[in-house]
Amino acid sequence: HMSDGECISLEEWEAKKYVESFPFIMVKAVVLGAAGGIGQPLSLLLKTNPAITALGLFDIVNTPGVAADLSHIDTPAVVVGRLPPNDGLKEVLKGADIVVIPAGVPRKPGVPRDDLFKVNGGIVKDLATGIATTCPKAFVLVISNPVNSTVPIVAEVFKKHGVYDPKRIFGVTTLDVVRASTFVAEIIGKPSAAPDIVVPVVGGHSGVTIVPLLSQSSHPLPSDLASDKFDALVKRIQFGGDEVVKAKDGAGSATLSMAYAGFEFANKIIRAINGEKGIVAPSFVALKADAAGAAELTKELGAELEFFSSNVELGPEGVVKIHPLGKITSAETELVKAAIPELQTNIKTGVTYCLEKL
Ligand code: NAD
Ligand code: LMR
Repeated sequence: HMSDGECISLEEWEAKKYVESFPFIMVKAVVLGAAGGIGQPLSLLLKTNPAITALGLFDIVNTPGVAADLSHIDTPAVVVGRLPPNDGLKEVLKGADIVVIPAGVPRKPGVPRDDLFKVNGGIVKDLATGIATTCPKAFVLVISNPVNSTVPIVAEVFKKHGVYDPKRIFGVTTLDVVRASTFVAEIIGKPSAAPDIVVPVVGGHSGVTIVPLLSQSSHPLPSDLASDKFDALVKRIQFGGDEVVKAKDGAGSATLSMAYAGFEFANKIIRAINGEKGIVAPSFVALKADAAGAAELTKELGAELEFFSSNVELGPEGVVKIHPLGKITSAETELVKAAIPELQTNIKTGVTYCLEKL
């Protein structure tokens, strides 16, 4: 790593990074679906964060093995893996500060994310019930698809148990942000994107509900970029998931890039818990989490939405502020308009399911 023409060793960089980033309030992180394609690499990454001193792993298969394996890594987190018998879910969740949920079935080629709802809706409902009854104050990070519908499920379950705090429930849309930065870096010819290139992506997490705000990119696109290239970039960000699903050819969807993205978002939450100010990331949250921010955003959207992914400022208690979209282009306004009806339908799917099942 070079800084000011100076070369420092990896050890020095790691030490510096952690001291700067983490004043070390220790947290317990839990992964539900920890033996899966996302769950395993995500758990590995979480194990490398020294601010995490306890790591709980739950899945319906293989967690004892994954936990034993990770427990040999010489970082602070004590790792525990449990299966459903003997109240394994509750045991793992006890005392959790952050719960990340990548449990559920992934897509196959030609399948839209909404088709996963039938199976994943029930899985998320059961896991959310476990959280609501064991560690209701934990920050919940939902990865399981379809995110636009599974986040409302978690909210409804928490309401049912009288423990709902909209500031603490997040749909993870970070992969869209990561993809947008990567693809923009490719176009502007930068060797790497993170952490310099930041492109806000708003709306939700599926197809047309994914709205990249390229006009707000930290690094503007070339002014002479042909309009077909621009449109292709927007499409690529919206349908980046399909690219991976196709390439994996029946073996699932994005797992490694998702683990990276989930880790990025979890780290931001941990830094916010630690009192670091000004941490902002797009996330799919209930607009109830910030009434003032919601009023402004609703005016911009020209529609009522219970949930939306916008830039969210994080603090020790969760959502501090939901940022408005701000200045966007007319093309972006059209993308937002196209996202709204689908988002409304997706949100309703989650809520209706709970009204029937809870
Ligand atoms: P996977 O099949 O590899 O892993 C899922 C894991 O969940 C499996 O280990 C399975 O045993 C476990 N599981 C199933 N039911 C469970 C239950 N009731 N309790 C606990 N664990 C349970 O799938 P994956 O590739 O890891 O994807 C997981 C989910 O994440 C999918 O729904 C996928 O669509 C979604 N996803 C979301 C994003 C995003 O950006 N939000 C990105 C990629 C994937
Ligand atoms: C993604 O964006 O990669 C995930 O939502 C997985 C998928 O189904 O595409």
